[in-house]
Amino acid sequence: MSIRIDILSAVPKLLASPLSESILKIAQEKKLAEIVVHDLRTFTHDKHHTLDESPYGGGAGMILKPEPIFECIESLTAQRTYDEIVYVTADGEPFTQKIANDLSLKSNIIILCGHYKGIDDRVRQSLVTRELSIGDYVLTGGELAALVIADAVVRVIPGVIGDGESALTDSFQDGMLDSPHYTRPPEFRGMKVPDVLLSGNHKDIAAWREEERVKRTEERREDLIHKK
Ligand code: ADE
Repeated sequence: MSIRIDILSAVPKLLASPLSESILKIAQEKKLAEIVVHDLRTFTHDKHHTLDESPYGGGAGMILKPEPIFECIESLTAQRTYDEIVYVTADGEPFTQKIANDLSLKSNIIILCGHYKGIDDRVRQSLVTRELSIGDYVLTGGELAALVIADAVVRVIPGVIGDGESALTDSFQDGMLDSPHYTRPPEFRGMKVPDVLLSGNHKDIAAWREEERVKRTEERREDLIHKK
């Protein structure tokens, strides 16, 4: 199983470093993910490479013009079939672990980043198949949101994370938060690792972790308990 993610951006430099480090880099090296960034400016044809214009009807902020976005998306859809054309936007559907898991099963997805005030609504009406928000706050552009989504999607593809189990035991995978983790040394500045983790008794360790997951979830995210 592998995924191709095309990210369309007016500020592609924002995407370069996160895509070339850590899990996103490893996934691409293992050929489990191919992430291709497209600079929307290369789809402009005027001398000044104009990507944005002021909004009809007046108001603050600039709006990404429809033509470069249509041209870029049409050049991609002419080459392969896309399962989803995602627009990242603060007024989209809240992004969750479940959506990340679902998207990780797709073969080809486009993530379109807005910038400035937004994009011409005709793009949303006729090209976009899904709109996602990473939280109730406004970012300057969709790039950071696209990276969040790409990371969350790619890390759950089987084989991306070395330890096969690791992504499945993340917080949220079963609607619960993760338990605390410790590594060497057993005592640090007077703080001890819980004895059970040093006991070697796997049954007791599993029971302790489950208890801690419940405790943490109750303390920090009661809403998740009621969701179950
Ligand atoms: N673009 C601007 N704000 C955003 C948000 N909260 N989520 C996704 N994309 C955005």
